[in-house]
Amino acid sequence: MSNRLILGDNLEILKDMPSNSVDLCYIDPPFFSNRNYEVIWGDSGEIASFKDRWSGGIEHYINWLYERVVEIHRVLKDTGSFYLHCDWHANNYIAVNILDKIFGRNNFRNEIVWCYKTRPQAKCYFGRKHDTIFLYTKTNKYVFNWEAVVRPLSDSTRMKYKLSDMDGRLYRLEGRGIKGSPIKSAKDVEAKWEKTNPELVVRDYLDEKVGVALEDWWEINTINQSSHELIGYPTQKPVALLERIIKASSNEGDMCLDCFCGGGTTISAARKLNRQFIGIDQSVQAIKVTQARLEKETDLFNNAPFVVKVHKYDYDMVRESEAFEFERFIIEQFGGEANIKQRGDYGIDGIKKDNKINIPIQAKRSDNVGRNIVDNFETSMRRYYQSLSKQIPANVTAGYIIAFSFSKGAVEEVARLKREENIIIKLIKVEEIIPIAKKPKIEIGYEWKEVEAKTDLLPKCTDKKIIFKIKSADNSKIELYQWDFNYNKDKGFKADIFMDKTGMQERIFESGSYDIAAKAIDSDGLECIEELRIIVNGGVKGTKSEPIIKQA
Ligand SMILES: C[S@@+](CC[C@H](N)C(=O)[O-])C[C@H]1O[C@@H](n2cnc3c(N)ncnc32)[C@H](O)[C@@H]1O
Repeated sequence: MSNRLILGDNLEILKDMPSNSVDLCYIDPPFFSNRNYEVIWGDSGEIASFKDRWSGGIEHYINWLYERVVEIHRVLKDTGSFYLHCDWHANNYIAVNILDKIFGRNNFRNEIVWCYKTRPQAKCYFGRKHDTIFLYTKTNKYVFNWEAVVRPLSDSTRMKYKLSDMDGRLYRLEGRGIKGSPIKSAKDVEAKWEKTNPELVVRDYLDEKVGVALEDWWEINTINQSSHELIGYPTQKPVALLERIIKASSNEGDMCLDCFCGGGTTISAARKLNRQFIGIDQSVQAIKVTQARLEKETDLFNNAPFVVKVHKYDYDMVRESEAFEFERFIIEQFGGEANIKQRGDYGIDGIKKDNKINIPIQAKRSDNVGRNIVDNFETSMRRYYQSLSKQIPANVTAGYIIAFSFSKGAVEEVARLKREENIIIKLIKVEEIIPIAKKPKIEIGYEWKEVEAKTDLLPKCTDKKIIFKIKSADNSKIELYQWDFNYNKDKGFKADIFMDKTGMQERIFESGSYDIAAKAIDSDGLECIEELRIIVNGGVKGTKSEPIIKQA
């Protein structure tokens, strides 16, 4: 399995995943909370799922979640762990009606309480300042790396290691716990014991201490407006929380799944910690924010590659792919087997098994495929069937040609073959095999104005504020824009702004030359990148200098 992000309803995607394939699954599903605050992205996928959950009360929510947890349990390995993140709205229902039923009470390991201090303070009851994270394992043999997530020793504990050996290693003395020993507690041990009664004491070295094993209450700060991790996603969880979970319940190379991945915290942490990952979300925006997050982190933390599966394939990308790569991909998507050797194939690119006959396939990465291709294919088919000591079978499908589109001549020839020679060749368009669409097209427009500089220096001077505005060049519906204000084509798009619904950004620039790129993403998850180089000729600050911007 490869690292991947998948757009879609997790129930359907989980059903397609093999059993016993995941080591760790963490989910942070939409809480059974105030429904008005729940729609985050507002895209069509999210609204559909939102309605799905809210058409009934808590029972409906529990049923909705239950069927997903059944699938998660199935895809987990026998040594796998499951963390379910929820809060007071539904945690009692979830534990009893979902987790105990599916995983079994005996596989309950922890109810982790994640405590935080946020506003507002409650006045009618105690402030509800924790979330609950349930940990269940599939069986009683599971990964738990307690040493990977220990709490460091406190200063006061460290201070107790006052003695130093010949090598300078710090230690303290502990009683050996011998029956009748006068040493009843650590307090009773004194340095002199080591000389006078060495059999009663043992050295406890500081450098052998890994730390304190963690308890089930965790104090980790929530993401706030000044957090450096902030990507603008309202229910974004802190990386420290997910790192702890991943380190404790998986090993390097293990497969981690988050099928409600949102802004991709689990996925980013898993990749950073050298785990494999699968992220699923039904919102285009969530998947694309996660993708941008991973792309930004590439080179910084980890270069592990990943694929992103959205609703449609990009026409240009498929059309411009390398010929053999295209043949292989489209034939496999069609349910056939590609001819990898590309030799001794009688001009056949692959076969499709149908009632035990291997029907030949020809795949063309072109539009308007003409009659000559049908003629050539007919010859290839004859040779192919002859090699199997057969005639071209009559009145059943004898061959397939796959292409982007077919000419009138090709269609007429196929009809003639059927009518006059009982040979049936099926012409299959790529769009009948895979959902395919053109990516959106955009233009970046800009204007500028002078604004008073934020400085106390006198005389007051001005800055050049540039306002960028994206226009659609083909009327496609754009769900999300992202911006890279320091674009470097070789390094790829590294978002500075992950979530922009308006397509408008303002920035103040010093004099200089800047490469800027904007990405626009449509509702199918297809995206385009538009670049712009601007040269800001600031002239002397405080004077009106013109022109200030040139598009290179
Ligand atoms: C609370 S958020 C997850 C936040 C995430 N833990 C983070 O740190 O960014 C829940 C996510 O579940 C997604 N979701 C809701 N129903 C879904 C479904 N049926 N299939 C896949 N994703 C779903 C929503 O789109 C949303 O992004």
